[in-house]
Amino acid sequence: MDNPTSRAIAQSRIDRTPAWLDLIQGVSGLALALFMWGHMLLVSSILLGKDAMYHVARFFEGVYFFGRPYPQLVTGIAAAIFLLMVVHAVAAMRRMPSSYREYRTLFRHSRDLRHADTWLWLMQVATGLVLMFLAGVHLYTMMTHPADIGPYESADRFVSGRMWPLYLVLLFAVELHGGIGLYRMVLKWGLLPRSVDPRAQRRRLVRLKWAITGFFLVLGLLTFAAYMKIGIEHCDRAGERYVPVALRAAMPLAGPV
Ligand code: HEM
Repeated sequence: MDNPTSRAIAQSRIDRTPAWLDLIQGVSGLALALFMWGHMLLVSSILLGKDAMYHVARFFEGVYFFGRPYPQLVTGIAAAIFLLMVVHAVAAMRRMPSSYREYRTLFRHSRDLRHADTWLWLMQVATGLVLMFLAGVHLYTMMTHPADIGPYESADRFVSGRMWPLYLVLLFAVELHGGIGLYRMVLKWGLLPRSVDPRAQRRRLVRLKWAITGFFLVLGLLTFAAYMKIGIEHCDRAGERYVPVALRAAMPLAGPV
């Protein structure tokens, strides 16, 4: 049928930009969340002992592939994560309220709606802002001091370098933000299998979300405590590098553990 209305519809262009931005936001968010889980498991290697963490750090410098450390590899990873974060933030920022009036309206709606997911979204906005301001500080340190990662080097950064308050805030912000983000993505993209009882299914998903967040928060806090303990014990020798047990015999002058 060829009438003015159908011609106008055929000629009108669909703006696909919001859909692309949504896809970019989702894919970059998923990559960052997976990175953060991997990152927490690697950083928590300190719970297995100083030597375990030492070897994880050397692994990422490529020692076991090239026979010598290339800290530039760590710089590269940190720079890639930084870029991914910028892409994610730019794609996500369009969703954030931009004025006091919008924040007030959103807060009122959240209060009136009394729906847990609306509060979760608010929490995601707040933790996203925290990450936007603070994660860059940590990433910049990783980019510029890639060779200073190890049981003593990292623990000294926590305590003597006074980074622990930043790490504590980042830990809560990133685990809440990532957990809520993945939960919202599963719902938004319809990734749950069909169910006869969608409400019960959603409740199970919420429980799973909090269980994963709880697991990473507990692991993060234990890891935090381990670095703090080493950093406090080592503060009078801050700056000294860790030497693993196997290499100590070859270096009789290495300091006490
Ligand atoms: C969005 C990006 C990132 C966030 C939010 C983040 C967050 C954190 C947090 C919260 C801790 C403290 C862990 C705890 O308290 O249990 C930590 C430690 C650490 N992170 Fe990250 N991290 C990020 C990216 C990276 C990258 C890209 C690297 C390396 C290439 C890295 C390497 C480390 C290391 C080695 C530690 C141990 C402490 C230290 O050496 O300073 N992180 N990170």
